[in-house]
Amino acid sequence: MLNEKLDKYLKNDYYPFHMPGAKRTDILRNDLPYQRDFTEIDGFDNLNDPKDILLELENRIADIYKVKKAIISTNGSTCGILSVIRALTYENKDILIERTSHKAVYNAIELNNLESSYIDVILSENNAVIDIGFDDFKNKLASKKFAAVVVTSPSYEGYNLDLEKIYNECQKANVPLVVDLAHGSHLILNKDWSDKFDIAITSFHKNLSGLTPAACVLINNEKYIPEIKRNMAIFQSSSPSYIIMQSIDEMVEKFDEFYRMFEILEKNLDDIYNLQLRNLDIIDVPNKDRSKILISTAHSNINGNDLQKLLRNEKIEIEMSYPAYALLISTIFDKKYAFERLKKALIKIDNKIDFGNNIKNFSYNIPKIEFNISDALLKNKSNVNILKSLGKISGQFVYAYPPGIPLIVPGEIIDSHLIKNIQDMQKNGIELNIDKEISIID
Ligand SMILES: Cc1ncc(COP(=O)(O)O)c(C=O)c1O
Repeated sequence: MLNEKLDKYLKNDYYPFHMPGAKRTDILRNDLPYQRDFTEIDGFDNLNDPKDILLELENRIADIYKVKKAIISTNGSTCGILSVIRALTYENKDILIERTSHKAVYNAIELNNLESSYIDVILSENNAVIDIGFDDFKNKLASKKFAAVVVTSPSYEGYNLDLEKIYNECQKANVPLVVDLAHGSHLILNKDWSDKFDIAITSFHKNLSGLTPAACVLINNEKYIPEIKRNMAIFQSSSPSYIIMQSIDEMVEKFDEFYRMFEILEKNLDDIYNLQLRNLDIIDVPNKDRSKILISTAHSNINGNDLQKLLRNEKIEIEMSYPAYALLISTIFDKKYAFERLKKALIKIDNKIDFGNNIKNFSYNIPKIEFNISDALLKNKSNVNILKSLGKISGQFVYAYPPGIPLIVPGEIIDSHLIKNIQDMQKNGIELNIDKEISIID
């Protein structure tokens, strides 16, 4: 579609007296895509008001995901999340979100001056986010009329929520369900896909082949389309990347092939999950996406960061580590040799390390809230040593990136639990956005 049209156009030898400024030059690096960098010239539509080829591309995405409407984002799921939350919260400022939401959700709360309530999460033994507290969710949902519910499924570590159950409760309460599906664009390729949402936002660049940060908003509930569209045109660049759009076009063209490639991935993954390791545990449970290779160090004498370093020594770069796990992302584009290398490395490392107790007492508990996020950020602040911050009100977010999930947000009271979490993270080599000091409200 888009690529084909561009191929034809390029053969016609039009000279570009228009943006982008690199003018398809051959004097710059030829491994950067200057030749195919484009803008909204005649016949190539406009992503912020698509009527032609880009609308067709969005319609094909909607068909693939079996939703009513798809809106492309060339600015990541981040842009989709900001747009969707704004579109849903003009009047009602109360929003119910999973506590372990990505910082983009918290940024939307700040921008729209929202009052956030939080759904508790359940962690596994190695501190991966595996579920929401369903009773807590139901109680909070009944506590007031919310503008929207936002949950993350799958979690970064690949655990899928029971969206049907959550969606049914939202329907009963007449509240739209927004799913941050940033890590789940590939789930359509297997049985883990759930269409139980009003709106979902997914990143094609994380688990499929869209170039970073290709993403999309998927909408089932048509009444939200016009305002989400309008907000996408606000948060999205007015010059959306045609390179990214071409990568989405290529992905859509090849999608039928992806189903077959997914079967091969599943077979390759079987090899990994069948490994008999003594000290490391490769987590394989029914509600978890197997392509997220989550390796627990909870019963070994190393932490997740150590495992990351050991894998790095074997020339394997991973997605992230936390105190009691390392997370590797595999996709349909990983070939058999990659899994062979991983297998060899894991066996070697597992033989080198020992059994141990590395279970961490970590949780995303919800501190007492003194101010909402936007109000808190406007207050006068100063920095104090974390050890002296007990009982003070946080003036900032504290998080590790990845995964970009806050341990505390502005306006919350710093408790001993948070201080211990921060110390544990730092002791385990997890880099946070703070060092020794934290910003507090004066
Ligand atoms: C759960 C979650 N949501 C949203 C995002 C933002 O996605 P993007 O990088 O496509 O903007 C991320 C990024 O890591 C994420 O982990």
